[in-house]
Amino acid sequence: MNGTVEARPRIVLVGAGWYGQKYLDEMTSRDVGGDLAAVVDIAEDLEERYPVIRKKRIPTYRAISDYVLNPEKDADLAVISSPIHLHAQMILECLGQGMNVLCEKPLCLTEEETLSLSRAARGAGRFLAVGWQLNYDRAVQALKRDILAGRFGAPKRARCLHAMRRGNGYYARSSWAGRISVNGWAVYDSPFMNACAHHFQLMTWLLGPSMTLPIGVTAAEGELYRGNPGVENYDIAFLRFTAEGGVPICYYTAHPLRTKNLGQDALVEFERATVTWGKGKPFRAVTDTGEEIVYGMDGGTPLMQKLYDAVQCVKTGEAPICGPEAGLSHLNAVLMAQRFPVRDIPASRIEWLEEGGDRFPCVTGLEDALSACAESWALPKEKGISL
Ligand SMILES: NC(=O)c1ccc[n+]([C@@H]2O[C@H](COP(=O)([O-])OP(=O)(O)OC[C@H]3O[C@@H](n4cnc5c(N)ncnc54)[C@H](O)[C@@H]3O)[C@@H](O)[C@H]2O)c1
Repeated sequence: MNGTVEARPRIVLVGAGWYGQKYLDEMTSRDVGGDLAAVVDIAEDLEERYPVIRKKRIPTYRAISDYVLNPEKDADLAVISSPIHLHAQMILECLGQGMNVLCEKPLCLTEEETLSLSRAARGAGRFLAVGWQLNYDRAVQALKRDILAGRFGAPKRARCLHAMRRGNGYYARSSWAGRISVNGWAVYDSPFMNACAHHFQLMTWLLGPSMTLPIGVTAAEGELYRGNPGVENYDIAFLRFTAEGGVPICYYTAHPLRTKNLGQDALVEFERATVTWGKGKPFRAVTDTGEEIVYGMDGGTPLMQKLYDAVQCVKTGEAPICGPEAGLSHLNAVLMAQRFPVRDIPASRIEWLEEGGDRFPCVTGLEDALSACAESWALPKEKGISL
């Protein structure tokens, strides 16, 4: 698709905040196969925050438009880790400058924009990859190949529970955290949209019709709650979607809970096998004949494989496996969920935990409610659970 680059690709990191720092660390502490040519971020204290920038004499710019004015603006790859509502415009700017792009998830907030960004990349002869890291996992890719080959039969139903404790510090880190919109731009930030999005996106991607596409999501039911009163959007979600072919996909996630990490616990039932994975548990299929297939026992794929794959693709001219369409079903599910009403959890059911200089709202009984619903593929009202 794009021309190959024989030398070491030059990389620009756009957005060096909470997650962008992981890219910065990777590119400054390991050989990723390319070189970090510049960091673009509006923050004025970048060099103070990240001494490695000064130590390695990495040029910094406040905007992509400043970077492209410099005489050495020949980057081959832009890694974009900026707030969601800025992704689309930054992608177009970088493509327009001849760069390939690896953009953090979620790509953007409408299907129309997803498809138009995909077209823009094709038109520019460059790739647009998205940072859903589990899609780059070699165990996941091997599992998906087996699913596509029909080894387990058709999918019957899928579910996952993944909740992570997040306190006021998490929401205070940026202007878009927990918000429905910022300055008129939709962001729909929530655990389902953002921090705990990965395993839902992964389930849709695993069940998709090809190595690059997810299964479509056609309908949704659910219950949303707000446990942290300082959050504009919801921070607790019990969701049940219907995917193409009538496959139910249930997802349970939350931030205001006492347990730091609940899940990840995923289960997908097929006609002839059950597939499971979770925190500390491998991707594993057990067929109805009792055969066990464990994927990726070779030490695992690094979390930042997406960066290594993107650099490699710049060199070969191929496109990474996770393109704009890979997150489309997650996006459509987020948009469907966003239409549901959000109920405030009564203050009497919230205990505040103080730890490490942060304050965490903890909804009484939330862990039990999430686990009980996940176990029975149910929503709270169906189980007589009231939060
Ligand atoms: N893959 C993952 O596991 C994962 C985890 C967390 C976040 N993310 C994604 O990473 C992206 C960034 O999230 P975050 O939590 O790091 O956000 P953040 O708000 O902490 O960081 C964003 C950075 O972008 C900078 N920025 C803002 N406006 C800018 C502009 N106009 N030009 C240049 N820089 C600008 C900010 O100064 C900040 O440093 C989001 O898409 C998020 O969903 C992915």
